[in-house]
Amino acid sequence: MKKYVLIIVFILLSTGCKDKFYENIKDIKNPNDILVLVNKNNKLPNDFIPNDLVKLDLKYSNNEKYLKEEVANAFYKLSSDAKLKGFRIIASSAYRSYTYQEELFNYYVSEKGMDYALNCSAKPGHSEHQTGLAVDVEGSNFDYDLFEESKEFDWMKNNAHKYGFILRYPKGKEKITGFKYEPWHYRYVGTKDAKYIYKHNLTLEEYLSIAK
Ligand code: DAL
Ligand code: ZN
Repeated sequence: MKKYVLIIVFILLSTGCKDKFYENIKDIKNPNDILVLVNKNNKLPNDFIPNDLVKLDLKYSNNEKYLKEEVANAFYKLSSDAKLKGFRIIASSAYRSYTYQEELFNYYVSEKGMDYALNCSAKPGHSEHQTGLAVDVEGSNFDYDLFEESKEFDWMKNNAHKYGFILRYPKGKEKITGFKYEPWHYRYVGTKDAKYIYKHNLTLEEYLSIAK
């Protein structure tokens, strides 16, 4: 039964039977929920700051960064296990405030133009970095943008779900997520949901529409 629901959801999403990006925007009511959906059609309150941010230990981050406590602990475990295999997986971006996201988006618009900015950066209130549930990672080539070329990438792609993280903007799903492929951006959803999402190759949008 679940298989047929999945197929119908895929057809609906791929035939464009969904809201256009940044139209019919809904205000998010559960911003501290681990499974919160933040995207171009679901917006966080401007003043939202997650309730349990913790500062990351500098062993796991390249600078002063914050994540929700549960996410930080899961990331520490992931990063330490990766280290035992000889890998370096470090947070290069984590929690971002509304104001910081606004500056980032405006920077991309001024440097690269609106089309480029819309493809790679969320408008303020629409970034899951504001939830403290998302982390951009870098590997032993010290550049998040080149993470796919690092020796860590394959391990991360195939193991992140065991720690509760999903690759949030996969290749080939851009029309669903609204963003270009981001090999470095991982989103915490907890291990049970991450394993299902990984196994069935879903985006969070697809998963939440069948889980409802
Ligand atoms: N780069 C991701 C989509 C963000 O700005 O949140
Ligand atoms: Zn990111």
